[in-house]
Amino acid sequence: MTDSAKTPLAARRAGPLHGRVRVPGDKSISHRALIFGALAVGETRISGLLEGDDVLHTGNAMRALGAKVERTGAGAWRLHGVGVGGFRAPAEVLDFGNSGTGCRLVLGAVAGCPITATFDGDASLRGRPMQRILDPLALMGARAVDAAAGGRLPVTLKGARDPLPILYRTPVPSAQIKSAVLLAGLSCPGETIVIETQASRDHTERLLAHFGGEITVAHEGPHGRRITLKGEPELHPAAVVVPADPSSAAFPMVAALIVPGSDLIVTEVMTNPLRTGLITTLYEMGARIDTIDVRGDAGEAMADFRIQASALHGVDVPAARVPSMIDEYPILAVAAAFAQGTTIMRGLKELRVKESDRLAAVAQGLRVNGVAVEIDGDDLIVHGTGTAAGGGLVATHMDHRLAMSFLVMGLAAAKPVKIDDGSFIATSFPGFVPMLRGLGADLS
Ligand code: S3P
Repeated sequence: MTDSAKTPLAARRAGPLHGRVRVPGDKSISHRALIFGALAVGETRISGLLEGDDVLHTGNAMRALGAKVERTGAGAWRLHGVGVGGFRAPAEVLDFGNSGTGCRLVLGAVAGCPITATFDGDASLRGRPMQRILDPLALMGARAVDAAAGGRLPVTLKGARDPLPILYRTPVPSAQIKSAVLLAGLSCPGETIVIETQASRDHTERLLAHFGGEITVAHEGPHGRRITLKGEPELHPAAVVVPADPSSAAFPMVAALIVPGSDLIVTEVMTNPLRTGLITTLYEMGARIDTIDVRGDAGEAMADFRIQASALHGVDVPAARVPSMIDEYPILAVAAAFAQGTTIMRGLKELRVKESDRLAAVAQGLRVNGVAVEIDGDDLIVHGTGTAAGGGLVATHMDHRLAMSFLVMGLAAAKPVKIDDGSFIATSFPGFVPMLRGLGADLS
């Protein structure tokens, strides 16, 4: 992205936020629904798909690999899949834009096919580690025949002609590593086993079962899981209804908590327990969040929440909670700035390799807005005073979640908060700015 395409934005204090909103579909499920639809034999229909840039890149990749992918209406998509192992060699480079999830999952899906494909992305994605995916895929027989230094993008992957099942212990709790191995395992004879010492989001496991795959999940140690997949299944097409993304819902929820007098309803938020760490933490901070309706669809529970402006206090967030709220630390740090007292967020090493180095960038963004903050090893410590000065210009480093978090901060800070670039918000939350404006926010 060139400088001229940057979209600076500013958020300032206005009245309370009121209304009822449904944020777009879950990003993790949207990527996976497209990939499994492309691997199933026959027609899969998806509704509520997140039509953000990240997911659209995955859709394009599925098309380039031979699946028929059509948009039939708003959020409504129809796929004709090619079957497990049936991807064809793409004529062009697969461009994943800003999306680590799309790129890493498709690396796994391609690894089990006898084809060669080149994977690339934008400057942010080119800076992110891919070796953690290439390592297990190499054990399964896929080879990176070309890669930038440190196994980074662009990567050309030669898939395995006869892929081998493995037992793999993920070195970090990462749903992306787990999912890449499982997707490659689909093409392997016999059982592929992934062991994680801390459970990460399980949408791959749930959707695989939904598409007719044979997968079992057992507990492993106090916080871990052992996932066993039977290879070479025929996946059957399945309807997927994508619930609202809890990682996107986090922004209006925290906005309502910190803007005085707010009272908001956020509907159909997915409540998969491996994604709700932020809500747990906000409760501990004293947030007034009421669950007003709970229901389920396609294996995922969802709920409507009422959020009222609240007097928050600082808390100690344990490292064991990281996987269930990995993407929510930037917005939690904003909530912590408006809480009374110190919040310690422990064990945030993985934040350094997200769309940006989020640990450093969040600290810097808070600092330029007058919030006292420290980084101690892998811990982020925010000294909240119940208010924030604002007035800073935040560098967002091609990172959608930094952009949205600091715009939310500006809605409650004493002086406006500016961000250098809001264009990456479109990767995960198209309509974010108009949605907040519709609730009463002052953003321009
Ligand atoms: C995702 C997994 C997480 C998360 C990302 C989406 C997924 O990454 O940060 O936004 O859909 O699998 P890791 O599991 O690699 O930490």
